Amino acid sequence: MFEHDALGVAQQVSTGSLPPPPIVQRIVDEAHARYTGLGEGTVADYIPELAEADPAAFGLSVVGADGALHEAGETGIAFSIQSISKAFVFALVCDEIGHAAVHERVGVNNTGLPFNSLIAMELNDGSPMNPMVNAGAIATTALIPAASSDERWERVRQGLSRFAARELTVDEVVYRSETATNHRNRAIGKLLQSYGRLDPDPLETVDVYTRQCALSVTAHDLAVMGATLADGGVNPITGEQVVSSEVCRDTLTVLASCGMYERSGEWLFEIGLPAKSGVSGGVVAISPGKGGIGAYSPLLDAAGNSVRGQRVCAHLSRSLGLNLFASARGGASGSEESHE
Ligand code: DON
Repeated sequence: MFEHDALGVAQQVSTGSLPPPPIVQRIVDEAHARYTGLGEGTVADYIPELAEADPAAFGLSVVGADGALHEAGETGIAFSIQSISKAFVFALVCDEIGHAAVHERVGVNNTGLPFNSLIAMELNDGSPMNPMVNAGAIATTALIPAASSDERWERVRQGLSRFAARELTVDEVVYRSETATNHRNRAIGKLLQSYGRLDPDPLETVDVYTRQCALSVTAHDLAVMGATLADGGVNPITGEQVVSSEVCRDTLTVLASCGMYERSGEWLFEIGLPAKSGVSGGVVAISPGKGGIGAYSPLLDAAGNSVRGQRVCAHLSRSLGLNLFASARGGASGSEESHE
């Protein structure tokens, strides 16, 4: 990670809305320009096709809860959503089966271990622990009510498309590349089954999970999806209520504790927002009531989080007054004047 104070950006304080659009655009441009030259990190290659990503690709998008759009860089480049899908499938499942059932079946505590750990399950009596690690995500996908795996997959695809305000499709090359190499996730599915924690067929469930990870999105899509979670489940582009506001609260809570894997504590300490990353280089961060941030840069740190994605979110959190834990005596200082 990095030292918060090393950012050299003044900490603004949260108000009820984003600053006026020209200020947000200026700050988005600044954040993008500041980290364009940063070459730290490596492109993931454990899914062979991901190694083909352009290390220079970098897009940043902010969508307000009112639908206002602010973008810089390559916000239209398509990449596979990977683990970021976990957040939105979790929201769909919460909407279907409710808070208590998800809490009981999947859990909401951080494992402190890498996202594809099997040890975490073994140490916790087979509990997948939380929906943001692979075990918990596979268990969550299994909870989408459906009579067959095909129907479950279609419900996932349509649900995530409602968050994105457009019809999402699978990147078939990435899907096939991961299917050829996802032995570990199949082992996780079988282990869940052995503990009696998965009702549908484990390998079919892992296949649905692999497809959801291969859905093709852009940084812009991620910002729209995040803005939907920021606005009580109403998509700011379509006006559709995708999930309830209670589900958004529950999803953001789990993202805050588990969204950035074993680095979730550090992320919250430095940035103060619920967020989710994916191994292809996407990051979505959510400012409740205000909007969503979508970032894409495929250079990752050792935990699998986009390096530039983390930096731009830190910059925006500070400059736009988004940190949920920041306050100032006597009220907010996130006014237009304080940004000048
Ligand atoms: O299951 C996997 O390993 C991938 N489909 C997703 C992993 C991922 O995105 C982890 N991210 N940091």
